[in-house]
Amino acid sequence: MNIHEYQAKEIFAKYGVPTPKGIMVESVEAAVEAAKELGGPVWVVKAQIHAGGRGLGGGVKLAKSIEEVRELADEILGMTLVTHQTDDAGKLVRKLYIEDGADIKDEFYLSVVLDRKLEMPLNYGFY
Ligand SMILES: Nc1ncnc2c1ncn2[C@@H]1O[C@H](COP(=O)(O)OP(=O)(O)OP(=O)(O)O)[C@@H](O)[C@H]1O
Ligand SMILES: [Mg+2]
Repeated sequence: MNIHEYQAKEIFAKYGVPTPKGIMVESVEAAVEAAKELGGPVWVVKAQIHAGGRGLGGGVKLAKSIEEVRELADEILGMTLVTHQTDDAGKLVRKLYIEDGADIKDEFYLSVVLDRKLEMPLNYGFY
């Protein structure tokens, strides 16, 4: 499904799923403005590409100051990310999601298998 994290989270928010605040940006200056608007004190700078594994590939980083948001945005924008879900050529990062940093207690993964012909979910997994 070719939607970015920021688009998926817009849909979650629309249907009442608690979602951290975030702003999609396409430049370093806009990243700084977004960080100011979100307020901090911790932000996450996240590459928006159509592939997972971004964290392990260096495309998701925590910032503890506006200056750090600026440095990380500069570093990640324009990067070619190679992850276990891309091919060897990787994916060029043109968009970032600047998100409120969360104090994570647990992480859970939910997946749904869709049947395009039947236009319905076939199965789901949770771990
Ligand atoms: N808003 C946030 N606040 C704090 N930490 C975050 C936030 N978003 C992401 N992280 C941390 O960064 C990691 C990677 O982000 P995320 O899971 O969204 O990307 P991913 O593409 O699935 O990468 P990976 O496969 O490495 O998990 C998360 O597992 C989490 O530890
Ligand atoms: Mg993840």
